[in-house]
Amino acid sequence: MFKKTAIGAAFALALTPAASFAAGGGEQHIEDFAFSFEGPFGTYDINQLQRGLQVYTEVCSACHGLKYVPLRTLSDEGGPSLPENQMRAYASDNFEVFDAELDDFRPAKPTDNFPENTAAGAPDLSMMAKARAGFHGPYGLGINQLVKGMGGAEYIASILTGYTGEEKEEAGTILYENTAFPGGWISMAPPLFDEQVEFADGHANDLHHLSEDVSAFLMWAAEPKMMARKQAGFVGVLLLAIMSVLLYLTNKRLWAPLKGKKHG
Ligand code: HEC
Repeated sequence: MFKKTAIGAAFALALTPAASFAAGGGEQHIEDFAFSFEGPFGTYDINQLQRGLQVYTEVCSACHGLKYVPLRTLSDEGGPSLPENQMRAYASDNFEVFDAELDDFRPAKPTDNFPENTAAGAPDLSMMAKARAGFHGPYGLGINQLVKGMGGAEYIASILTGYTGEEKEEAGTILYENTAFPGGWISMAPPLFDEQVEFADGHANDLHHLSEDVSAFLMWAAEPKMMARKQAGFVGVLLLAIMSVLLYLTNKRLWAPLKGKKHG
């Protein structure tokens, strides 16, 4: 009894400061978005990835590159799944790459990657959704990711929706207050607004939806094989379960003669 109470007290002690820490003003706040790819059976939503690609192309690509992402993967199953001809057209219509052989720029081909973009001093977004998965809740314990399935996509969406409207100038740079950015001030001006991007199918395009769509797309860019990984994990668990049953039955069989003797 005493032991139980002591353990309970220890837990309460461990959790209380964490809770107040999280609630304290000025701390990084990451909103919990409900993404289709969360959970053991979650998958990317193809339409959402296509909308996110459009948001990236029309807005973010002005400053951010995606230099590790091959354009041809836009046709991959499990990704935005653009038909081959659309992917080709998308590449050549939207991007130019420098060709060392031609010593000139030419329209991008499926074999090229998305271009890099360093002009605005903005980080490349190829791996951002994975690199920022570890904001990890109170005390960096990884609780949020474990319990709520929160990761880098939530972080990006929270940055895009986390502007308070406050600005300040520091050493000649304008900083914008943002509740999701560590430290609270980011040098990226609010990039997204309600109805900034129009979708062909008339899908909702308020700031919240646009942020969610582009974050899902960036999650795919950073982890295109998430579905395959989950599937492999599931098959692994299934095989282990079957093995356990077989071992249990074998074990029973092996010991059956001896056990029988005891009773007989
Ligand atoms: C006008 C240029 C510009 C545009 C457009 C822009 N960004 Fe940024 N972005 C920046 C700069 C500059 C930074 C670096 C900010 C800093 O570190 O203070 C940045 C940083 C970021 C970060 C990194 C935060 C971190 O943890 O380091 C993310 C995520 C991001 N941008 C996402 C986006 C998305 C998504 C879009 C499109 C909706 C977008 N940005 C559009 C300039 C831009």
